[in-house]
Amino acid sequence: MATVIPIMPAGLSRRELRQAQATVLQALPPLALYIHVPWCVRKCPYCDFNSHNAPATLPEAEFLAALRSDLEQTLPQVWGRQVISVFIGGGTPSLLSAGAVDEMLGMVRAYLKLLPDAEITMEANPGTVEAGRFQAYARSGVNRLSLGVQSFDDACLRALGRIHDGRQARDAIALALDAVPRVNLDLMFALPGQDEAGARRDIDTALSFGTGHLSLYHLTLEPNTVFAKYPPPLPDDDAAAAIQEMLQQRAAEAGYEQYEVSAYARAGQRCQHNTNYWEFGDYLGIGPGAHAKISFHDRILREARTRSPEQWMQRALAGDGSHIASSDVLTPADLPFEFMLNALRLRAGVPSASFSARTGLPLAAIHAQLRRAMNKGLLDADPAVLRATPLGWQFLNDLLEMFLPE
Ligand SMILES: C[S@@+](CC[C@H](N)C(=O)[O-])C[C@H]1O[C@@H](n2cnc3c(N)ncnc32)[C@H](O)[C@@H]1O
Ligand code: SF4
Repeated sequence: MATVIPIMPAGLSRRELRQAQATVLQALPPLALYIHVPWCVRKCPYCDFNSHNAPATLPEAEFLAALRSDLEQTLPQVWGRQVISVFIGGGTPSLLSAGAVDEMLGMVRAYLKLLPDAEITMEANPGTVEAGRFQAYARSGVNRLSLGVQSFDDACLRALGRIHDGRQARDAIALALDAVPRVNLDLMFALPGQDEAGARRDIDTALSFGTGHLSLYHLTLEPNTVFAKYPPPLPDDDAAAAIQEMLQQRAAEAGYEQYEVSAYARAGQRCQHNTNYWEFGDYLGIGPGAHAKISFHDRILREARTRSPEQWMQRALAGDGSHIASSDVLTPADLPFEFMLNALRLRAGVPSASFSARTGLPLAAIHAQLRRAMNKGLLDADPAVLRATPLGWQFLNDLLEMFLPE
């Protein structure tokens, strides 16, 4: 029998929908801050992040001045709002000196109302760690380190073009655990030449450190990367699926809950910053290529900054807004897909009421799509939550497509 959604009206007329869409957000969502550091020791052949080979000397002073200007220019959009988390991502933020990170976080505290116990994460590459540096970052306020381990297998790491070996990865984890209360390890799987036994050794080594959080990413061949042009030999789809299943099982046995497509956490250790993205919260994004989503009572704005580090620095320092590459108000037609794209990544989904609270649209605006997704068994029939079924999670792209604007 087909599933129906009991709480919904039959659907709104176009006129009613338009009226409802004179967007009214009763309350603004939580606000986070993302800071992008664009440099790496060497660009990895699989990576399509906005990351660039670092110059011989990092222009730290200019970078910090440009960040300050970028932040100052964005402040009027968020006057008085509290900031719940900070994420310093990249690129490789751990290339920055301790002094630069201290200045950066001092600036953040001076300009924004940062919650006293805000999660402050920094991404680090195990190849850029030196004794004392993590401790210094922690003294400046970093309380969570996210390490790009990828694998502990030297042959895999070489095939990935990483700048570190397994030994350095293990040393970096020990130093991170000594320095901060919360540590995440990024692992990738279905790597060139990797079999299930190799992936098992990787996850077991990762689990042996007992960090609170793991991110497990299926290696994808991204357009415009070296790997897209010269694809390495990879495990086939069946082998990759078997590896993924084994990883999920090992993580579960070790007490890690998979709370998002790629994220696994022990109790109380979920990443608050990323969870805010998935719950369609707000975020400022400063630094080259950074994205922002900022809600106002009558509209929701998306911004992207200029991607080139040099251009972004020049333009941010000019102080005339020219570092903003695009700024668009999300239309009511865009919002359902944008919301679902994030919310349905969460295993537990989100309360149905948050759709209206975060988009300003009535749930009735997506009544037909919800019903279709439920009838196909992709969306949970519980009217109180928006949550993918196990089948929907497996075919997430098919489920999300149903919410694309027509
Ligand atoms: C910005 S990087 C993390 C920090 C640092 N740049 C590093 O690599 O050590 C974010 C993570 O995304 C993952 N990642 C990057 N490119 C990927 C790809 N093509 N497929 C799957 N995961 C990828 C990696 O696990 C990487 O650690
Ligand atoms: S170190 Fe990280 S951000 Fe830099 S190129 Fe490699 S994967 Fe990308």
